[in-house]
Amino acid sequence: MSVRSAPPRQRWDALWVNAQLATMTVASAYGTIMDGALAVKDRRIAWVGPRRELPAGALDARIDDPDDAKMVVHDAGGRWMTPGLIDCHTHIVHAGNRAREFELRLKGASYESIEREGGGIAATVAATRAAAEDELLEQSAARLAPLLREGVTTIEIKSGYGLDLDTEAKMLRVARRLGHRFGIRVRTSYLGAHALPREFAGRPDAYVDFVCDDVIPSLASTGLVDAVDAFCDTIGFTRAQTARVFEAAQRAGLPVKLHAEQLSDQDGAALAASYRALSADHLEHLSAAGIEAMAAAGTVAVLLPTAFYFLRDTRVPPVAALRKAGVPMAVATDCNPGTSPTTSLLLALNMACTLFRLTPAEALAGVTRHAAHALGLQNRCGMLQAGLAADFVLWDDLESPGELAYRLGYNPCHRIVRGGTFAVVPS
Ligand code: NIG
Ligand code: FE
Repeated sequence: MSVRSAPPRQRWDALWVNAQLATMTVASAYGTIMDGALAVKDRRIAWVGPRRELPAGALDARIDDPDDAKMVVHDAGGRWMTPGLIDCHTHIVHAGNRAREFELRLKGASYESIEREGGGIAATVAATRAAAEDELLEQSAARLAPLLREGVTTIEIKSGYGLDLDTEAKMLRVARRLGHRFGIRVRTSYLGAHALPREFAGRPDAYVDFVCDDVIPSLASTGLVDAVDAFCDTIGFTRAQTARVFEAAQRAGLPVKLHAEQLSDQDGAALAASYRALSADHLEHLSAAGIEAMAAAGTVAVLLPTAFYFLRDTRVPPVAALRKAGVPMAVATDCNPGTSPTTSLLLALNMACTLFRLTPAEALAGVTRHAAHALGLQNRCGMLQAGLAADFVLWDDLESPGELAYRLGYNPCHRIVRGGTFAVVPS
């Protein structure tokens, strides 16, 4: 009896065909595959490539095989497909807003002077402390909805508007609950060293002791924290205080990131790099030495153009030098009530190009592969690549993926797939 070898069987759950793929697997380019196909198995991408290279028999559902028969074939209708977007720096969990402060700034007050006079972050701390957990959840969910509609499938959420243990824990629980409610991947950062709370007025080192000795060990043991962040600046914390926070994070086994060089050069990015920080963020005042340290440590530069715009800043981050040094650049919304009250990552994409001179391909990499890297998720998401999560977006009306950065105030998101399943987003 002769045995003929059967074609290899693809036990995939779903196969997408007739898509233009921006895989984002190539540095500074889209990694385009025209007429591409993408297969999903067990919530992950199982195969990506040109449709003509699909393994033989991949499209033949085998009715005699219950596994193969389950595979669903989707026609993308020739649309562009990108990885799910990643917003890798947000303060989306907070209560209230600071529209009044915006008006003061328009009349000439500076962000720093408002902060020093007890407004600014302190105002949001008061509102966030006062809000019940469910109320905080609803306010934050309302801000998250527009990001979800733009195809955001992973988001980083910071604490830092509680400053006391209970309110920081409340914020972090809300962040986790948002992830569960909407089926998105949430990475939390504890930002205790964001501002000095009123109860520690005049005693910043005592507050840093509290952050390091009480809050970090306590929150780390609850599993509510994925990373530790700090604000190293004239109105934030000094380099030495930031270093102590990083030491405590290291003792707790948590990676670090830093709000660095936003308003002045504190050499914070180099400090962060010396702790192998996942990212240093803002960076308008970043020095050549800071760039070198980040490049050596593999620390991602997270650019926040909407905060730059909203503060009417004039000093841009050293993008050309970061590019030359090979520092990966991510782009995020910084969604917060004081310096960036936006809920559009596509707007940040546009502003990364118009204000900071990223190319559209760099900007898109900044909200996909490099944003994943800024969260330590480079082996989980951020590209259309076999083995990574099947998180992707189909876009309408695009001739090229560069149009995602070009359009202003327009959301061409057609459908979102998270973990291989169509996402239902709030309308
Ligand atoms: O990323 N710079 C410090 N933190 C935030 C702003 C916080 C606030 O003003 O509420 C930022 O810009
Ligand atoms: Fe921030």
